[in-house]
Formats: sequence, C-alpha cells, structure tokens
Amino acid sequence: MLSRHIFLIGMPGSGKSSLGRKVSNLLHLPYVDMDSRIQQALGGTVTEIFEKYGEDAFRAAETNMLIQVTREQPSLVSTGGGLVMREINRRIMVSNGVLLLVDRPLELIMSDIKLDRRPLLAAKGLDEVERLYHERIDTYRDAADLVLNNNGSYYDGVSGLQKLLRMNFSL
Ligand code: S3P
Repeated sequence: MLSRHIFLIGMPGSGKSSLGRKVSNLLHLPYVDMDSRIQQALGGTVTEIFEKYGEDAFRAAETNMLIQVTREQPSLVSTGGGLVMREINRRIMVSNGVLLLVDRPLELIMSDIKLDRRPLLAAKGLDEVERLYHERIDTYRDAADLVLNNNGSYYDGVSGLQKLLRMNFSL
C-alpha cells in the first residue's frame, strides 16, 4: 500500500509514537517503532540499554536497525528523537522514503512529556528538553519533507496526520 517508507521524526514527546501507532491502525499501514525494535533486539528498556552499553552503542544499534527496517516492507516508522541528528541516518532515510516532522511547540512538549522512560532527559529534567529543542529544531525542519503541526490535542494530531498521509500518499 505504501511504495516508500514514511519516517516520523521530531522531538521526544512530540507524538511520533502515539500518533504513528494509532494512525497506522486506522489506515491499515504496516508500522515500526524504532525504539521498540532496538529494545527487542538488545533486550531491556532504552534506559537499561543506555546504562548497560552507553549512548554510543545505542546510536550504533539505531543505525543498524534503521538499515534493517529499510529492507523490510514500506512502513510508517516512528524514529527516536536523536536518530535524525546523525547525517548517516538522514541519508539512509532520504534514500528510502519521506521524512515527516511531527512539530509540536516546546511549551506543549514540556507540559506533557514523560521523562522517566527517556534516559537523556530523566536526570536533567525539563531544562534539558528545552536545550535539546533549541539544538535540534532547525535540523528537524531542514530534514523534513512534510510537517505535521501537532499543536492541539491527541485527537487533533490523529486526524491531522491521517489527512496529511491521505493527501500526500493517495491512501
Ligand atoms: C532519544 C529519544 C528517544 C530514544 C532515546 C534517545 C533522543 O526516543 O530514542 O532515549 O536522543 O532524543 P523518543 O523520541 O521516542 O523519546
């Protein structure tokens, strides 16, 4: 049903996984959550993987998993927020599909993000969310082929993403 992958990119807490999972169900699209796949492959949660092997090992696993996913059927793919920050990963995604930014305003991310499952953020808290947002937002926007302005409720995001996908991929 899809001819290429659709990679959801954006900040932690922007809605990539929650919207991706829901909309893939509604539109009957194959779905991959990169963090879940890495967790299955390495065993344990992302936090445990960071603690046990370190961030560099997680980033290497992330690139390997991305390559593996591109060899599978074209899917809607939720990526981890740091994936797109590496040029190699951007190249792999550009060669294999479309990058769709889930763009959520910083204030909304800060008001509802769950920090405990996010090792880079858990220790440093909301200040780190803000720092990462400013560090990354231009890269996210430059890399994006399509942008979902996810500036409302979860239900607004679900219907917005469905519309964007229907319009651009004749679903
Ligand atoms: C990360 C984001 C996380 C996860 C890891 C690193 C990041 O995914 O991949 O904790 O560097 O922004 P989410 O964007 O789903 O939180």
